[in-house]
Amino acid sequence: MNLHRCRIVFAVGSLCVMLTSSRAEVTGPTAYGKTADGTAVEQYVLKNKNGMVAKLITFGATVTELEVPDKKGKTADVVLGFDTVAGYQSEDNQYFGCTTGRVCNRIAKGKFTLDGKEYKLAVNNGENHLHGGAKRSLDRVVWKAEPLKDKNAVRFTYSSPDGEEGYPGKLDVSVTYTLTDKNELRIEYAATTDKATPVNLTNHSYFNLSGHGSDTILDHELTIPADKYTPTDEGLIPTGKIADVAGTPIDFNKPTKIGARIEKLVKTPTLGYDHNFVLGKHDLTTPIATVRDPKSGRVLTVYTDQPAVQLYTGNFLKGQKGKGGKVYKHQSALCLETQHYPDSVNHPEFPSIILKPGQTYKHVCVYAFSAE
Ligand code: GLA
Repeated sequence: MNLHRCRIVFAVGSLCVMLTSSRAEVTGPTAYGKTADGTAVEQYVLKNKNGMVAKLITFGATVTELEVPDKKGKTADVVLGFDTVAGYQSEDNQYFGCTTGRVCNRIAKGKFTLDGKEYKLAVNNGENHLHGGAKRSLDRVVWKAEPLKDKNAVRFTYSSPDGEEGYPGKLDVSVTYTLTDKNELRIEYAATTDKATPVNLTNHSYFNLSGHGSDTILDHELTIPADKYTPTDEGLIPTGKIADVAGTPIDFNKPTKIGARIEKLVKTPTLGYDHNFVLGKHDLTTPIATVRDPKSGRVLTVYTDQPAVQLYTGNFLKGQKGKGGKVYKHQSALCLETQHYPDSVNHPEFPSIILKPGQTYKHVCVYAFSAE
């Protein structure tokens, strides 16, 4: 090719790139709807230059949509959710995309003792406390939000009064979602308190890398480089043991299809995967989980600074209707919830989740997407 033709090809190529790629931008707030008690809920939209889109609402500081390109550049919405606030407030909502807390996961019998005082929490999961309570848990309240345009981010804040859902202390929480041009949704949490109190936050996005409403995630291939987990009793409360994954269906050190061994778990109390992995030495540059979807080629890589991750394979999904009328059948999505160990407040041998006045709780979780 001579130089002149080469220049023309290059110019046309650059024009195509300019036409197909978009700029990173934050839009919002826009009105999303109202809660049953009439509180306005707002939406924010983050876009990056590769066409990835994250939609977020102030109800529960929730991720409602995540448009991710596949290997051909075709995007699909890879998270479960609803189209309305009423959907998010309905019985069909099993914590889709929300910020979960003050303490995510379970607390045995909804009780703990701190500095000699016993605290009683809502019992909303058998005889135990789950995901911060029944009425005013962080996923059920409307947060304040501000766009951070120069960072392509939105920061949500909520001030939980002393005693809310039975937890001590006024807790000021923030969750910042950033969409990077490396196709990462970065979630950064911070919290401060005026009394010692337990804090363990997470994001509860349900992923199906073929797109929400697709078939089960049993063909998704998962890697979790972790040698240990916290075995649980019939109520999914840790027994206190830190057990080896080796020789069990919970060993994901080598890439394995989620469906390869799940049958061995369906008759156990977890009904599938609902396990908390103890993460070995890692930092924000070491993947703690990788999920590959052979159909779309989409890959989700998770990074965190937290000591554990809960793998949950949508064992309680019941065929409820979500966005666009799509049906969310049993095991049609998975959650990788970065966090501390469950019921840490009742296990002094586990890393502590007690936040004291003057300290700041911090947690980073990165959901990074690619395609191959
Ligand atoms: C978590 C738990 C599951 C289940 C879901 C919500 O992931 O580990 O047992 O309660 O939340 O349905």
